[in-house]
Amino acid sequence: MAKKKAEGYLSGREARRIAKENRRITNAFEKQRKRKNVPESEYLTHMADPNNAVEFDNLHTYFYTDAGVVKSVDGVSFEVPIGKTVGVVGESGCGKSVTSLSLMQLLQRPQGQVVEGEIRLNMGDKAYDVTKMPNEQMQKIRGNYVSMIFQEPMTSLNPVFRIGEQVDEVIALHHGEGKTKEDIKNRTIELLEMVGIANSQGVYQMYPHELSGGMRQRVCIAMALACSPKVIIADEPTTALDVTIQAQVLDLLRNLKDKINSSIMFITHDLGVIAEMADYVVVMYAGRVVEKGTVHEIFSNPAHPYTIGLMASKPVVGKQVDKLYSIPGKVPNPIDMPNYCYFKDRCEMCVAGCEGEYPCQVQLSPTHFVSCYRYYDHKNQGGEG
Ligand SMILES: Nc1ncnc2c1ncn2[C@@H]1O[C@H](COP(=O)(O)OP(=O)(O)OP(=O)(O)O)[C@@H](O)[C@H]1O
Ligand SMILES: [Mg+2]
Repeated sequence: MAKKKAEGYLSGREARRIAKENRRITNAFEKQRKRKNVPESEYLTHMADPNNAVEFDNLHTYFYTDAGVVKSVDGVSFEVPIGKTVGVVGESGCGKSVTSLSLMQLLQRPQGQVVEGEIRLNMGDKAYDVTKMPNEQMQKIRGNYVSMIFQEPMTSLNPVFRIGEQVDEVIALHHGEGKTKEDIKNRTIELLEMVGIANSQGVYQMYPHELSGGMRQRVCIAMALACSPKVIIADEPTTALDVTIQAQVLDLLRNLKDKINSSIMFITHDLGVIAEMADYVVVMYAGRVVEKGTVHEIFSNPAHPYTIGLMASKPVVGKQVDKLYSIPGKVPNPIDMPNYCYFKDRCEMCVAGCEGEYPCQVQLSPTHFVSCYRYYDHKNQGGEG
């Protein structure tokens, strides 16, 4: 680790040294990933539980930046069961998007790299470890098995092509074999209608800027669902929309998910959306999972002080308060994480032991896990470490 000056600036020499070291590390990763004709056995794996669609297992995703290594995701484990929705919540910058981009292999490369851990993807008769898959194979998985809906629809649509052409392209690329242009167009129109666009023939001819934000997001959903993926990642799909359109888009996602029996990994800041959409909740803080459980457990019995703070900071209809609760302090610097619990400096519920190393996971129920020293009693009574 480079020595920093008191003000936190790096000298030119140190910066060059870091850049050189980064290049060495990322080049090695890239070389591995760009290989051709990699045997399947290298990325074949087994699901820990065949009822899961995706299993994140001790995922570490780092960015090798000129200022040092940003440990964006640092040991994240959770699973997305088949046919269920898993909500991922946490403060801005806690690594939610980086976790989902790791699954899609869409990290900004070469600086962004998965350095440790597995992401197991259930392919039905077999399972793949996405982190070890070379680019070639990954292209076949993306869109077909896993697809993603992004926060800002305008950034995922190309402004210079008509809507129809863009959706056609997705279908042609993944399911185009043996289909005529007419077949593909009909499928596009069908998809646009499925996501609730009334004037589908008209929209087919339009450019993205001619649509409203809600319509654009629907087009993105149509593109994401074009190949009936097994796993849909929705990264704050409704943040850019107003509340009524938001409710419609959420309804749409839920209905479509049931129709094609996929799983959804739903990333959001909005606890209300989680309560409505999710079966399970994963709470992340500073690149780690601090608590996970069923939606009922997390909402009625939050265990981690951060989750408790989150719950206290959401407005409740009919409850009079002068000021909403806010969690004091700020997230630690991801380049220089402390060696004790990352939340300790902001925590108002510290107990003896909190100054020790990062707390391990304590099991509170078959589905409820928390990483916090306050529950070490449970652990001693037979909980899992
Ligand atoms: N390309 C990149 N280069 C360097 N650091 C990055 C890059 N992308 C993300 N990070 C860092 O990784 C961390 C996690 O970012 P991420 O985008 O996953 O946050 P998030 O939880 O999705 O936040 P938000 O709720 O604001 O979308 C942040 O500290 C961010 O600065
Ligand atoms: Mg994000």
